[in-house]
Parts: sequence; structure tokens; C-alpha cells
Amino acid sequence: MNEVIANGLRYLTDIDVAAMTVYIKSLAANGESEVITPSSDELLAGQTLYDTHCQECHLSSGRGGFRKAPPVAGSVLVQAKNPSSLINVILYGAQPAADIPASFYTWEEMADFGHKMTDAELAQLSNFLRASWGNRGGRVSAATVANQR
Ligand code: HEC
Repeated sequence: MNEVIANGLRYLTDIDVAAMTVYIKSLAANGESEVITPSSDELLAGQTLYDTHCQECHLSSGRGGFRKAPPVAGSVLVQAKNPSSLINVILYGAQPAADIPASFYTWEEMADFGHKMTDAELAQLSNFLRASWGNRGGRVSAATVANQR
């Protein structure tokens, strides 16, 4: 997202921003029927992956940490109807844009986790994120992750 902001969004005109806002507001919110309630086994598997790989920075509360990482609890990206940005950030990590000086940056970088998890594990982890801390999102399947790798 930083690259998008640094290289693109900051150059938008007011008219572009207004047009994008109208479009985004026109999109439907997550449909009730889409929201998942994973089984306790699924949640436990996802939580184990989260505790191993993610909670160091995003914390067990999901709220992120000062100079560590942004919150995943309440995150629009985590709960988005289309899970591709969530899957992408886990597969490929998140780095600041190249033209932002390191001294300006107060967060750690997020590594890529694609090589550390199978498609099924990445789906379990995504479903844990989408169903925890009050988050509500649709189910992510291993096949969706496989398509995006
Ligand atoms: C070393 C610390 C660190 C670890 C470990 C880490 N992250 Fe991150 N994460 C970050 C940082 C920093 C960002 C923000 C990056 C940016 O915006 O440039 C981020 C961003 C995210 C986002 C985007 C949130 C939003 O609303 O924009 C998600 C989702 C996410 N991480 C999930 C995970 C998951 C799942 C794991 C475990 C597989 C994980 N992170 C492990 C540091 C970390």
C-alpha cells in the first residue's frame, strides 16, 4: 500500500479523489451470508500459525504495536470481500516505498511468508484473521490462495 500511496495516490487531483470516493461508497458491504464462522479446529489451527509467525508484531490483541505493525483487528484489508490484498500481503510481505527515507519510517518491514506456509495453512490463517477480534469476512479457500501464488 505504501508504494501505491507514494507512487500514485498522492498525485491524484481532487476530482479523481471525489470520483473514487463515490465509487467505493457505492460498493456493497460484506453480505451477512458470506461471513464465516470457522469451526473451533480451524480457528485453533489458524491461531497457532498466527502465534508462530505474526503475533510478535501484530500482537495477540490484533491491535499491532508501537514501532512494530498496524492493527489487523478492525482492518478493512483483512475483512475485504475480495481477499486478494490480504493473501498478497501474507504471500509477499509489505515494504515501504523506495523513495521514502528509512528514518521517516516508524514500522518494521513485514517479511514474505509464502514459502513458510502451504496454501491450506495460509487459508486457515486468513480465516482466523477474518473471524477474530470482531472481524467479519468471507471464507478464504486453499484454492483461492493457490490461484494467487
Ligand atoms: C516484523 C513484524 C511483522 C510480522 C512478523 C508480521 N507483520 Fe504484518 N505488517 C507489518 C508491518 C510493518 C505492516 C505495514 C506495512 C506497510 O504498510 O508498509 C504489516 C501489515 C500487515 C497487514 C495489512 C494491514 C492493513 O490493514 O493494511 C496484514 C493483513 C498483515 N500485516 C498480516 C500479517 C500476518 C498474517 C502475519 C503473519 C503471517 C504478519 N502480518 C507478520 C509487520 C509485521
